[in-house]
Amino acid sequence: MHLHKFEKIWLIFGVAMLIVFLSTVGVSAFYLGNQPPSCLATIDPQKVDETAPFNKPGLKKVEGKDWDYELVFVASAFNYNPGQVQIPKGAKVKVIATTKDVVHGFEIAGTNVNMMLEPGYISEYVTTFNKPGEYTLLCNEYCGAGHHMMTSKIEVVE
Ligand code: CUA
Repeated sequence: MHLHKFEKIWLIFGVAMLIVFLSTVGVSAFYLGNQPPSCLATIDPQKVDETAPFNKPGLKKVEGKDWDYELVFVASAFNYNPGQVQIPKGAKVKVIATTKDVVHGFEIAGTNVNMMLEPGYISEYVTTFNKPGEYTLLCNEYCGAGHHMMTSKIEVVE
């Protein structure tokens, strides 16, 4: 079979790009651990208030883990509990959140924290707050008449 020179170049380019893209996805998924949430952590949405750690929402210092604090949030129409929280600057925080009723969003504006909270499931994300200031936690999934008022305040303090 005879291949034109340009066809060959194009074929090599195509295969090389395929290898580059697959390697990028592979390294990201298996080496850097960027994988979609497993949906393995579940909870009875009727019993959120009695189930640890959601029976005590807020910031908690933890020992012997890869993160310094756990920040527990319970969402319900149309608020977050706690409604305000202070976090020390530079702390590595694991955010743990769930919802008691419908699907809510969990976006901390100005950061890359952006999760969906589904009834029956626990959403988690580990992040570090390096910049002091006031951040707004807001709901970015339409959840009803009070959706636009559903916020909480996160203060990163020195
Ligand atoms: Cu909760 Cu929109």
